[in-house]
Amino acid sequence: MEINGKVAIVTGGASGLGWATSELLHGMGAKVAIFDMNDTLGQERADTLGDGAAYFNVNVADEESVAAGIAGVQGSFDTFHIICNYAGIGAPGRTVGRDGPMPLDWFKRVIDVNLIGTFNVIRLTAAVMRENEPVTTDGCRGCIINTASVAAFEGQIGQASYSASKGGVVGMTLPIARDLASMGVRVNTIAPGLINTPMLQGLPDPAKESLANTVLFPRRLGEPEEIARVAQMLIENDYMNGETIRMDGGIRMQPK
Ligand SMILES: NC(=O)c1ccc[n+]([C@@H]2O[C@H](COP(=O)([O-])OP(=O)(O)OC[C@H]3O[C@@H](n4cnc5c(N)ncnc54)[C@H](O)[C@@H]3O)[C@@H](O)[C@H]2O)c1
Repeated sequence: MEINGKVAIVTGGASGLGWATSELLHGMGAKVAIFDMNDTLGQERADTLGDGAAYFNVNVADEESVAAGIAGVQGSFDTFHIICNYAGIGAPGRTVGRDGPMPLDWFKRVIDVNLIGTFNVIRLTAAVMRENEPVTTDGCRGCIINTASVAAFEGQIGQASYSASKGGVVGMTLPIARDLASMGVRVNTIAPGLINTPMLQGLPDPAKESLANTVLFPRRLGEPEEIARVAQMLIENDYMNGETIRMDGGIRMQPK
């Protein structure tokens, strides 16, 4: 699908990977709707992009909030063709820690945002995109990109909830691609390794260096723009469907 002239919804678009992707897509001629809960940053980002960009306060885990965001995008841009699901959180904690078992609410919250939130956005946006006029000769009407993590495959100590949520995203990628195939909607997932976003930028330099040294090659953290370029490829390459792509410099995470 050609990016120029399309409309993209980017969840988590105010920060990190979502922002890098919003910038790239907007620079390539797409209109961009940022769905996030950080109002100050989200509005600032939309203002930075300027024409053809808008911010919507959306909690991906909330049905009504996503429905209202979708209505807002339709009001501003008519329809949309590209969904990038980046909104996500982490809440590290051992299954049984010094203070006893992990509070079940912590586990549920991460699943709620990362897994259920992703599904919630997919189901509500796909129902709209199936009504789009086809935009490729194959009859493609929409393209969805999810974000998992290498933690889906090699979760570390303290990552049970995060790994479960991201493993769920990997697991649902193919069945959802199958569900939406007859509607002309493609679904793929990116599984990033260690990327230099606000999540990691808060770490002291020695800690970042030690993390970078665990990467196979090149021995550095990935840059958000490198993930954005994978998203670009997944949108533009019409034969990509039902796949999860690791983007991680060859890293294989150790237990800690
Ligand atoms: N940075 C990494 O190294 C890395 C590695 C693997 C996977 N990921 C995944 O990539 C995605 C983006 O990560 P990032 O590093 O850019 O993080 P980030 O914290 O910089 O950005 C995440 C954004 O999501 C928003 N958000 C959180 N909960 C939300 C909700 N319920 N509804 C709407 N928006 C919400 C936040 O406000 C924030 O703007 C996440 O899903 C993360 O798990 C990141």
